[in-house]
Amino acid sequence: MRRRVAVLVSGGGSNLQAIIDAERGGALPHVELAVVVSSSKGAFALRRAEEAGVKTCVLERGYVDGRFDGVGYDEGLCAILRENGIEVVVLAGFLVVLGAGVLDAWKNRIINVHPSLLPSFGGAGCYGLNVHKRALERGVKVSGATVHIVDGALDGGRILEQRAVAVRPGDVPETLQRRVMEEAEWIILPQALEVLCETL
Ligand code: GAR
Repeated sequence: MRRRVAVLVSGGGSNLQAIIDAERGGALPHVELAVVVSSSKGAFALRRAEEAGVKTCVLERGYVDGRFDGVGYDEGLCAILRENGIEVVVLAGFLVVLGAGVLDAWKNRIINVHPSLLPSFGGAGCYGLNVHKRALERGVKVSGATVHIVDGALDGGRILEQRAVAVRPGDVPETLQRRVMEEAEWIILPQALEVLCETL
């Protein structure tokens, strides 16, 4: 049985592409890519989805009195996920922290890819290139990526998959980021998604 999956994005969408390619290649027999939701209308990820013929939806942050309206965002996202009959949610470079409505309604059915070996270099301020910058500053010799269940603790949910990537002499955040994506993220995210959908 295929599970209806939403992929939530904010930027380049290379992890989304890895899921699209895996699905098209027959590696995700329990996944139906139902919708891609972007928090930014300019995200390149949207172009990737359109190119692949996957339905897209944009939900940008709203502000009330100059402050991010987290409750409104949570309600809007719940509505989109419900309208599309979504069973499983993938965060693939999604830069909005999920609210309680989505977390409760899709408990144990939301996964995130993070560009480090959690619990190292996770939590507030740790996203994207910044994660690799911190890892290099700390001098780690091995980094990697993690796919985990998303719960109320930022980057703190149960770990489903991890893959290590060696740090090389001369690495800068950009080179390490690229290798972690190629050698870890793009492999373990589709794998973890398939296992979750198969075992639901
Ligand atoms: C990826 O490296 C992903 O692990 C990271 O953002 C990048 C998104 O790239 N996510 C986080 O840092 C979340 N804490 P993509 O848009 O090309 O998939």
